[in-house]
Amino acid sequence: MDAIKQKRILVLHGPNLNLLGRREPEVYGKLTLPELNALLQAKATELGVTIECVQTNHEGVMVDTIQTAEGRFDFILINPAAFTHYSVAVRDALAAVTVPAIEVHLSNIYRREEFRHHSVTAAVAVGQIAGLGAQGYLLALQAACGLLENRSNSI
Ligand code: DQA
Repeated sequence: MDAIKQKRILVLHGPNLNLLGRREPEVYGKLTLPELNALLQAKATELGVTIECVQTNHEGVMVDTIQTAEGRFDFILINPAAFTHYSVAVRDALAAVTVPAIEVHLSNIYRREEFRHHSVTAAVAVGQIAGLGAQGYLLALQAACGLLENRSNSI
C-alpha cells in the first residue's frame, strides 16, 4: 500500500518579524522567531504534517515564495506584516495560486493605528486570526489541517 503523503504547510513571515522578541515586545511579545517556529514545528509533528518556515523582509521574495508554493505546498500560513496593509503584489500572488492561505497577525490590528485596520490580503485568504500572539499561529496550523482533512474526505 502507498504511504499516505504528509501534507505540507508553508509558514511565511513578513518584514521585521525576524526581530521578534526584541521588536516592540509590549505589542508582539517576547518570543523570538526561532522560538515561534519551534512551537509550530512541535505542533506540526503532533498533527502529522510537514512545515517549512520562511521569513523575508522583501516584497519580491514574498511574491516569489508564494508563487513557488504552487504544487509544493498544500496550505500557506502567512503573516504578511506591513505588506498586509498595502501590497497588492502579495495579494495578487495569493490570488494567483490555488494553495489556500490563512492570514495571521500576532497583534490585534483592529485596535491599533487606523492604517493597520485594513488588510489588502485578507480577502484572498480563507480566514484571518489576529491578536492572539503565538497562539494564533498554532490555531491557524490546526485549522489548516482540519480544512485539508475535510477536503480529502469530501473527494
Ligand atoms: C503584524 C501587524 C502589522 O501591522 C505589522 O506591520 C507587523 C506585524 C502582526 O503580526 O501583528 O509587522 O502583522
